[in-house]
Amino acid sequence: MLIKVPLKATLFGEHAVVYGKPAIAFTLPLHILVEAMDVHEQKIVVEFNNVLLPIRKIEFNREDNLFSKTEVDNDVAKRFVSYIATAIGLCEDEVKPGRRRGFIMYLKSPVPTGVGLGTSAAVSVATTTLCLSTYLSTTEIEKSLIAKLSWRTEQIVQGVASPMDTYTITFGGIRYIDPATPKAEPLPTPTKMNLIVGYTPKKSTTAVLVSNVKKLLKSSISASKIVDAIGSIVEEARSSILQGDAERIGILMNLNHGLLDSLGVVSLEHHTIVNTLRGAGALGAKTSGAGGGGAFIALARDEEHANILKRVAEALGATIVATGIESTGVEVVEKGEM
Ligand code: MEV
Repeated sequence: MLIKVPLKATLFGEHAVVYGKPAIAFTLPLHILVEAMDVHEQKIVVEFNNVLLPIRKIEFNREDNLFSKTEVDNDVAKRFVSYIATAIGLCEDEVKPGRRRGFIMYLKSPVPTGVGLGTSAAVSVATTTLCLSTYLSTTEIEKSLIAKLSWRTEQIVQGVASPMDTYTITFGGIRYIDPATPKAEPLPTPTKMNLIVGYTPKKSTTAVLVSNVKKLLKSSISASKIVDAIGSIVEEARSSILQGDAERIGILMNLNHGLLDSLGVVSLEHHTIVNTLRGAGALGAKTSGAGGGGAFIALARDEEHANILKRVAEALGATIVATGIESTGVEVVEKGEM
């Protein structure tokens, strides 16, 4: 079985979404591929390509919850596999309580883990899809179940997680996420959005950044108003996207970036990149995701301008991973289709 999962970037509303505000995110034409088979032995074997983690293979015994035959004792790798083990456990409890199978997975990622493009959510979504496809027929699998179980996986492994990443990656396209329901409303836009997406090395984990923001918000009533302001930007951005008003979307991206900066999550490199991209004519540019470095996005005027912005960001040391939006979420594909 081969599962193809898009990565994602956040257009508006990161951090505030943790406090119940809506957010807007979109999937990228950049995918994690998981080739997998189920086995009777209760073990999970995950092989990685060398981009994802500094190790190649990790094995986890489901009977005694122990890692074995680990090439390197690596905490990041173990945490990574805990997303996989948790997702499989939740899926089995939901669809076949008491059943336990093993899985051998080969996982290929185009970007390193933890750069702010939703790699952990993509792995949770891929694993949940794999497990559901093992126990149920395609017609029985609803995307809402994939999204729900993957979100729960992130909450268990990370402690705090909004449904933004997992719901966007499951359904695909540009999505307005309401964390209260949760729902992932598609936002069809009448004009092409010339977005470029890149990243710089991330200096802090999402968990640390979310916890720093929490401390800041507790420190003053005024700080907590930033979350309300971000929520209001998201609502205005939703109607701007539906109307295809690129100028206004850009202005709102810049406003959102300023508020992320006041929350303390914008790195020095992102200051330089975002300001330079604006100087080069970007309609808007912002940090995307948890911050502390990591992902950023910019809105260009057209395709040609997007290529210019790409070269400007690369000259500043950033890696550009995508231009444009992917409209499809997680998919189980036949190998011949790849
Ligand atoms: C992480 O991609 C985005 C945050 O808003 C955290 C979350 O939504 O769980 C910072």
